[in-house]
Amino acid sequence: MPQVLSHRQLADIATAFGTPVYVYHAERITEQYNLLKEAFREVNATFFYACKALTNINILKHIKSIGCNADCSSVNEVLLAVVAGFPPENILYTSSNISFAEIEAAEELGVHINIDSLSNLEKFGRKYGHSYPVGIRLRPNIMAGGNLKISTGHNKSKFGIPLEDIDKVLALMQETNLHIRTLHIHTGSEIKDVEVFAKGIEVLFSLVNHFPDLKVVDLGGGFKVPYAPGEEGTDIKALGAKVAEEFSSFEKQFGRKLEVWFEPGKFLVSEAGYLITSVNVLKQSGDIRFAGVDSGLNHLIRPMFYGAYHHIENISNDTGQMLPYTVVGNICETDTFADNRMISEIREDDYLVLYNAGAYGMEMASNYNSRFRPAEVLVKNNKPVLIRRRETLQDILNTQVVAAD
Ligand code: LLP
Repeated sequence: MPQVLSHRQLADIATAFGTPVYVYHAERITEQYNLLKEAFREVNATFFYACKALTNINILKHIKSIGCNADCSSVNEVLLAVVAGFPPENILYTSSNISFAEIEAAEELGVHINIDSLSNLEKFGRKYGHSYPVGIRLRPNIMAGGNLKISTGHNKSKFGIPLEDIDKVLALMQETNLHIRTLHIHTGSEIKDVEVFAKGIEVLFSLVNHFPDLKVVDLGGGFKVPYAPGEEGTDIKALGAKVAEEFSSFEKQFGRKLEVWFEPGKFLVSEAGYLITSVNVLKQSGDIRFAGVDSGLNHLIRPMFYGAYHHIENISNDTGQMLPYTVVGNICETDTFADNRMISEIREDDYLVLYNAGAYGMEMASNYNSRFRPAEVLVKNNKPVLIRRRETLQDILNTQVVAAD
């Protein structure tokens, strides 16, 4: 059974640190990482945590301490990974429509880079030629992922170099003597179907012969984790077995050994995170029972942005009667966390916890309505420690420049 923080532990944290508060469980992250290592033990696999999911420096340090690498999506994330202590060879920068200046900055830091446009690839080739091994992010034209907003590999997606342009990549490689070491794809988030990954491998293997310097096939992230009770995630064991099978038959056929890289975000941190809120008001409207909490889409945008499901429990009243509630935030526009959801009877001031809040929760939070973002607490060895203090009005004013009258 996966480790979970108990209602009592969560309620004590809410009382000690106030709400709204994000809580992360270090050992749960480790547990997920161990599952990956175990499932892929037959292949030469390396995991780069897609730190866009949750970049608190303490989380990055924990990820490093368990032997996992870091995948970044901006040069600032690369710099955070450096601050957290990752050496450059353990940092990967997978770019998306970025300026060439950012690629130059990443090159200077000495990290692995996946380039996702012909135009940046050409600039890179002209400037660095064979001197700096690089990866290319391809768009494999595969439809995958939990919903269209988080699908990235299909044929209308902005991500990567379209497969149709492979001849242009090869021409650039000839012309500028580019050293292409990695072929990368990331087809989407919340991919349950193992066959999607197999299809991606097939696409990349079919290109290998064009790339004499190739060492790595990078399949991105996107492993699905369960959000709703009874829902199933990606069968990670089956995926590991499938990848092992594909790579071993590739080796037999081509006589070449390749490494496989992955960039899991949600898989590592989603289930390790909780958002605890307090109930401000109860409001009855016809047969709708609203529970209005001290949080909203400014703190967890996933339900409103993606229609994402987050399981909710009333940790102040475990044994109450189950009743249908519509859980809403305190923001000045519709911000529904859950619609007509069965929850143990809610009273004002009760603590509600939203599960699976580790990935893309705090990371996508904002100061909308000039509200403070939540504090963050990390539980390690059963000890809760504050890892981001609550904001103040001064934090909101800090970057504003008061213009002269
Ligand atoms: N690698 C690349 C190149 C990515 O773009 C992403 C996610 C990942 C890895 C990690 O994917 P994961 O393992 O976390 O599914 N905000 C959305 C998810 C956006 C994902 C963006 N890219 C959400 O809350 O569902």
